[in-house]
Amino acid sequence: MTLREIITLPNPILRRKARTVTLFDSDLQTLIEDMIETLRDAPGVGLAAPQVGKSDRLIVVEYPEDDELEDSPKKLYVVVNPEVKEASEETEMGIEGCLSIPNLHGEVERTIAVIVKGQTRRGQAIKIKAQGWLARIFQHEIDHLNGIVFTDRATKVWKPAPEEPVLDNV
Ligand code: NI
Repeated sequence: MTLREIITLPNPILRRKARTVTLFDSDLQTLIEDMIETLRDAPGVGLAAPQVGKSDRLIVVEYPEDDELEDSPKKLYVVVNPEVKEASEETEMGIEGCLSIPNLHGEVERTIAVIVKGQTRRGQAIKIKAQGWLARIFQHEIDHLNGIVFTDRATKVWKPAPEEPVLDNV
């Protein structure tokens, strides 16, 4: 596995609509392994392929299964061609940052629950139900595949003060 460089704005790849993945070949498996390693090294909870300079519809997310429990084990999600299929009407505000936009936080309104459909790394159909922060992470990562970053959606953006809590990077 190889660490990949995380690209930042204004790199135009981050503004491109990423390509649908059609080949589940060894290059894709290598990219996935590298993205998992890069995500853990960052460290972060979500990473989209455009953030490592690959304009492909692929995300990796690693987040505690139950974030209300202190020692909940983390669950790794690799989703190829992810799409939000169903979204709750209810939304909530939350503070986000992004590995591709260092030193900026923003308040973003997101749907509180989503159903994400996509494919596994081998091309099998999968469906994931997510709520709360996990739902937020999926929405943030899928936005990356459409050239959208959190500052586009934020109602307020600021440079975090040193005393501000460190956010999970996405
Ligand atoms: Ni991001």
